[in-house]
Amino acid sequence: MSNQDSETIHTAVRDHYRREAENFSSECCGSKAPCDCSSSKNYAVGDLQGLPEGLADVSLGCGNPVSAIDMRAGDTVMDLGSGGGLDCFLSAKKVGPTGMVIGVDMTPEMIAKAQANALKVGASNVEFRPGQIESIPVADGEVDVVISNCVINLSPDKPAVFREMFRALKKGGRVAVSDIVTSGPMSPIVAKSLESWAGCVAGALDMEEYRNGLIAAGFQDVAVTPTDGTPLASLAKRLPGLPFSALITAKKP
Ligand SMILES: C[S@@+](CC[C@H](N)C(=O)[O-])C[C@H]1O[C@@H](n2cnc3c(N)ncnc32)[C@H](O)[C@@H]1O
Repeated sequence: MSNQDSETIHTAVRDHYRREAENFSSECCGSKAPCDCSSSKNYAVGDLQGLPEGLADVSLGCGNPVSAIDMRAGDTVMDLGSGGGLDCFLSAKKVGPTGMVIGVDMTPEMIAKAQANALKVGASNVEFRPGQIESIPVADGEVDVVISNCVINLSPDKPAVFREMFRALKKGGRVAVSDIVTSGPMSPIVAKSLESWAGCVAGALDMEEYRNGLIAAGFQDVAVTPTDGTPLASLAKRLPGLPFSALITAKKP
């Protein structure tokens, strides 16, 4: 993809999420993505207890990476594409006052929304940094855990994102990502639609490509599993190229 195409995608995605920041729809990616991944289903009532009213509605994700990973007191966690900040606030509770959570997002209105939400939550161990996930604003080896919820599919340069995740993690660092993937190639007509890209459909990687991309960046123990529990062996029965939500886990050696 040329630099100009990448910039066109970044601009379309930023415009979409600027509008979402102004008027949260609480749908996966702010669209009716055909993947049955409505954000309200992703969090158990207990996960959200103690959050100020309305905060539970700021999710535009397609899963719950926070509940899928073992976060320890004192860990530094980074959330790629942190949106309104819900996963950051849930992580902040897990890592406690000796830990730290860094949310990264390229949409200024989302950063402002997340910062306003942090004040409501009273979270002092969460920081939101503006930036792109293809060039993450953290030092080498700064973080113990990378999470992300329905964002990497939006990137026009996934290999760069995987390299950056690897660079940012400490040795032994862990990854839990919820994302939209496919099993098989997507229709070229859908893949070319900018609107579908911003709605988390057109940029979805085939799950094997996702796995191989993480391995190429240096990760090990990479697993890609459908969020709804569909056994991998049954995926072949689905229409090829149909997007669905998956949990992706990996480790830096
Ligand atoms: C579908 S929303 C998900 C937000 C959040 N993770 C959640 O679960 O609610 C995608 C978010 O990723 C951000 N984003 C998309 N592409 C990005 C990129 N290349 N770099 C940084 N942020 C990005 C958008 O601004 C938006 O806030």
